[in-house]
Amino acid sequence: MDTKNQSQAQAAVNIQDLPHRSLPQGKMPAIGMGTFGSDHVSHEQMAEAVLGAADIGYRHFDCAEVYANEDLIGESFKELMRNGVKREALWINSKVWNDHHKPGDVLEACQRSIDNLCCDYIDLYLVHWPFRNFHPPHCSVESRSPDSHPYDHGEMMETWEAMEALLEKGLVRNIGTSNMTIPKMDLLLRDASVKPAANEMELHPHFQQPELFDYCRQKGIEVLGYCPLGSPGRPERDRTPQDSVDIEDSVIVTIAKAHAVHPAAICLKWAVQRGHTPIPMSVNPRNYRVNLEAVTKDPLTEDEMNAIAQIDKACRLIKGQVFLWEDAVGWEDLWDMDGTITARS
Ligand SMILES: NC(=O)c1ccc[n+]([C@@H]2O[C@H](COP(=O)([O-])OP(=O)(O)OC[C@H]3O[C@@H](n4cnc5c(N)ncnc54)[C@H](OP(=O)(O)O)[C@@H]3O)[C@@H](O)[C@H]2O)c1
Repeated sequence: MDTKNQSQAQAAVNIQDLPHRSLPQGKMPAIGMGTFGSDHVSHEQMAEAVLGAADIGYRHFDCAEVYANEDLIGESFKELMRNGVKREALWINSKVWNDHHKPGDVLEACQRSIDNLCCDYIDLYLVHWPFRNFHPPHCSVESRSPDSHPYDHGEMMETWEAMEALLEKGLVRNIGTSNMTIPKMDLLLRDASVKPAANEMELHPHFQQPELFDYCRQKGIEVLGYCPLGSPGRPERDRTPQDSVDIEDSVIVTIAKAHAVHPAAICLKWAVQRGHTPIPMSVNPRNYRVNLEAVTKDPLTEDEMNAIAQIDKACRLIKGQVFLWEDAVGWEDLWDMDGTITARS
């Protein structure tokens, strides 16, 4: 059976039934597949999962140059298109990494992602982190790069203007941010010519970020949620003893039993019904099918949504320690916890 016929035979959902979010340019499926394999999933496995996921109905894929697998994922997109999936039917995100924030570098990085992903244009291109601090892959979370420094709004605006230029060139359809805070977003909205269409941020039942979520909604910025299942497969170096486990939470487990699904499905139903767009990663065909099906049927009741709203533990998993500068106190310095930016003096 060729991939096209196989798709029709195996589709987990009717693609028309997938909820969508309206962005300035285009409609984004309200669930995407994450493609960061970290160090436990090979690039080949991730690319194969993209193909398998598209076969059952996924159309939205969250990529980034720093995931180092865009070339292989591009091969999967090419195969899909050879088999009749139109480019316009796909929604592809990518992100500029911290070491390519200078204007010429943004353009170069974007073009490289387009070429690697074989996709002609990117639907949503994000500034991956709002600063240039860079670290080598797999470095220790204690390491501090001598070039790293606190947030610099002048630098951020230089990068953002380069992002705006990508829109004008037609290389990308929408531009956005990731890992932002309210005070940083205030400054960006004050100074940008084009406001971010979307912000990608860590979001799961134990880390609901209600203030930033509400802020984005009020400003008309769509919200994508990363680590929507609480990233149960993240590497040891990204774990601390204080981290809690969403899919073992008794509220989530009880609701999962009532719906006869895995707790992961409850995290995703909650996300989509709350109004953000989760991007779960999976290379297991049974899991990525469950995840897609979860958001198209058997919604949570209002009481269940309210119960999940009560289990927020403000438990940030991706703390970003590797982006700290030499005299930083701790990872909290990255997140403007008291409402003011830890800025470059
Ligand atoms: N913007 C940023 O700075 C940023 C940061 C982090 C992540 N992201 C994006 O967010 C995506 C998702 O984040 P993540 O991968 O860290 O966390 P996640 O999606 O919360 O969790 C992924 C893990 O959950 C497992 N899983 C998936 N579906 C499952 C199911 N139905 N039942 C049981 N287990 C399931 C997967 O294992 P199996 O493969 O075995 O299913 C994998 O180990 C990334 O891939 C990336 O695209 C963005």
